[in-house]
Amino acid sequence: MNEPSKEYGLREGVGHEPRRTFAIISHPDAGKTTLTEKLLLFGGAIREAGAVKGKKARRHATSDWMEIEKQRGISVTSTVLQFSYKNRRINILDTPGHEDFSEDTYRTLTAADSAVMLIDAAKGVEPQTIKLFEVCAMRGIPIFTFINKLDREGKEPLALLEEIEEVLGIRSCPMNWPIGMGQGFLGIYNRSDNRFERFTGRGEEMKSIQADDIESEQLRAELGDELHDKLQEEVMLLDIAGDPFDAELVAQGKLTPVFFGSAIANFGVETFLNQFIELAPPPGPRKTDEGLVEPTDDAFSGFVFKIQANMNPAHRDRVAFIRMCSGKFERGMNVTHVRTGKKISLAQPQQFFGQGREIIDEAFPGDIIGIFDPGSFRIGDTLCETGRFNFEKLPQFSPEHFARVYVKNTLKYKQFHKGLEQLAEEGAIQVYRQVNRTEDMVLGAVGQLQFEVFQYRMKAEYGAEVELTYLPYSIARWIETSDDLDKLNYDRYSNLVVRDQDDHLVMLFPNEFATRWVVEKNPNVVLHTTSFGL
Ligand code: G4P
Repeated sequence: MNEPSKEYGLREGVGHEPRRTFAIISHPDAGKTTLTEKLLLFGGAIREAGAVKGKKARRHATSDWMEIEKQRGISVTSTVLQFSYKNRRINILDTPGHEDFSEDTYRTLTAADSAVMLIDAAKGVEPQTIKLFEVCAMRGIPIFTFINKLDREGKEPLALLEEIEEVLGIRSCPMNWPIGMGQGFLGIYNRSDNRFERFTGRGEEMKSIQADDIESEQLRAELGDELHDKLQEEVMLLDIAGDPFDAELVAQGKLTPVFFGSAIANFGVETFLNQFIELAPPPGPRKTDEGLVEPTDDAFSGFVFKIQANMNPAHRDRVAFIRMCSGKFERGMNVTHVRTGKKISLAQPQQFFGQGREIIDEAFPGDIIGIFDPGSFRIGDTLCETGRFNFEKLPQFSPEHFARVYVKNTLKYKQFHKGLEQLAEEGAIQVYRQVNRTEDMVLGAVGQLQFEVFQYRMKAEYGAEVELTYLPYSIARWIETSDDLDKLNYDRYSNLVVRDQDDHLVMLFPNEFATRWVVEKNPNVVLHTTSFGL
């Protein structure tokens, strides 16, 4: 039995391990699957490498969604991976990338309390990392950086730090420093305790040397004159010109602690994990329309951040994923679905690991539970015992692909509209209505695959075959303006003005240049990258 957590000031007898709920954000191929697997190994959640299905098994997108489901392996079935490590319960939220990158990926970040940003040392900050980073930055959650693949030639560490600061606009503080790289990678030096960890390659036991300080002769003997001089020089530069570690700034998401390593060689991962669990925040308070809800509050509450349809083709079921924010969850408990006012019993809650599902008996703030959804849940819905409040609305994020959608058989118009409405509510796709031609429906998707899934499900679940005409836009911006719509100057680049499901005005643009043009021509217009706060 683990010690009851004092972190939440829990009532006697309701002890549980403190939670650390986070997501790994990265560009495809940076090594997220590899790093996740190593973390699971440390947590004892898997016994050997290879248990987590690699991306090759889920690489090809096909037009058959069932096939897509089958091939995606862990990225679909493991919305959350949970394991215990050093008296903490770790929840890793999966953020699908590759071809299944979608709005879900962004929304999952709203359920995380912190993020681990994984960067390939050779590639630096890549596009998908930037997008995911921005969502984390919007929420102000702490971001920890792991620079991966040091066993290969990559960019200079100082250049990588500069890139992080310039491209992402976040200050950085290296917690350890790499010595050499690629063939000449010798290991890492931990700045806080002067410990040198020697890189020993895949599968070999790691050797570490505890030095008194960076000038240590023992360290010099281990590294050789040249690399020891370089290490001293670089660390001195960091001490003088770099940002010092500041827990408060980390907590506010303004400073990212940086770690170096090689996930594949399982090097630097344990050091990272040990510091990460000390620094990463426990579940914090969440905003509702009735004020803040604290994780220590007695009554159960949580919100739906993801709805996964047809997870199991044999059952054609839907599962709503709920991020718990307060209280204690017990199987069979009754809660209120606040939007509809209905009482529901949480009888068959599940947690997911790999392909299997496990029925759970209890859960705590920070945990994710999956419940069967008969079709009544929407993204952002609140479930709570008191039935009195709603969590802050989840934002909509800018899609990157747009298409007009038509029903092939006009007799199916009713089914078509029902499908559009339900799939939009489920968050499978964004649906817009053109302002001056309200019968024209426009779809927005963050990832191309969302369109395929949408078409498939419209036919399979609603009996409405649809046709899509792709539109040349790649950016949506939510508009805030005091001007009348017809006074706006926006049609130079055939930008399109539409309304989203909540009736907010949204403008669709072909490129960034067009967005800047509109801002210049319309001083009273403010463009937002998400619907957050509108
Ligand atoms: P992802 O989930 O972020 O897409 O990345 P994944 O872990 O699948 O890793 C992408 C590729 O990078 C894989 O190689 C993986 O072995 C490699 N990789 C991950 N971490 C490291 C590292 O620390 N050092 C080096 N050198 N390579 C690393 P692959 O050849 O594409 O696939 P596979 O044949 O290894 O499965």
